[in-house]
Amino acid sequence: MGRSKPEFRKDRALRFYYDVLGLDRLHYGMWVDNDPRTLDGVKVAQKRYEDFLVTEIQSLAKDPAKTRVLDVGCGSGVMSETLFGKGFDVEGLSPDLFQQEIFEKRLPGRFHLARFQYFNSSKEYDLVLMSESAQYIPVKQLFAKAYECLKPGGHLVVCDYFKNDYASGLIGKSGHKLSTFLKLAKDDGFLVTKEKDVTHETSPTLDAAKIFIEKYILTSIEIFSDKLRERRPRLFKIIMWLFRKRIAKGYRILELLDSEAFAKNKKYMFFIFQKN
Ligand SMILES: C[S@@+](CC[C@H](N)C(=O)[O-])C[C@H]1O[C@@H](n2cnc3c(N)ncnc32)[C@H](O)[C@@H]1O
Repeated sequence: MGRSKPEFRKDRALRFYYDVLGLDRLHYGMWVDNDPRTLDGVKVAQKRYEDFLVTEIQSLAKDPAKTRVLDVGCGSGVMSETLFGKGFDVEGLSPDLFQQEIFEKRLPGRFHLARFQYFNSSKEYDLVLMSESAQYIPVKQLFAKAYECLKPGGHLVVCDYFKNDYASGLIGKSGHKLSTFLKLAKDDGFLVTKEKDVTHETSPTLDAAKIFIEKYILTSIEIFSDKLRERRPRLFKIIMWLFRKRIAKGYRILELLDSEAFAKNKKYMFFIFQKN
């Protein structure tokens, strides 16, 4: 009998960013041209992105204490904690058990363990935030569920990347199609009240990730595999053969870390939608 997938899991990639790289935030960030393309640069860019979103959210709220926010795909909860510190009535939502643990330490009793598309909310929110989480939510259910969760006139704030109509191959696999996303927003009762293309500001994260992987991860693998090749050449050949598909996949993933290809196929967009 096959094992069924557990409904909620601990995402290992997100845990690697958090525990190994020390990244509290799980988004691309916003860069300026002279930011160093290093791990420290990523942290500065991520803080800048968060400040940008917080300023936009503050501009929508007359009274933060009366503004109920649902941070959908809240990650480790840094953004929720910042908004809470600014007086907002914030709750976080994520299907990830590891994120639940960290979030609960920051803001106890304000976390929903759920996939947004299946979330049954007992209350209505003034603002639903999706910071780089919209891409994980099935697009056909996203706006209908947001509509259900929001008060009349409430706002849906989305910051994420989207693919253009002709994106294909590996790069075309992630992100919603922008044209479909905007059509569904309209069909499901939302108006775009603000939009900004932030591709130029966000895409340098890919350059930083590529530099990091080439410098630390690939170099470490090369050093250790060289040693094995010298001492146990037959074992080395067997391991290379056994892992050939994974190795090829790893190199293909590196192709995704190309900011120019990203900008040709995708747009990183900031949107404010209003429930019509
Ligand atoms: C790239 S992280 C962004 C985290 C955080 N918003 C930030 O800006 O740092 C994507 C987030 O979406 C969450 N997520 C994935 N699928 C989801 C779903 N179906 N419903 C809600 N959140 C989801 C992940 O667990 C994670 O918290």
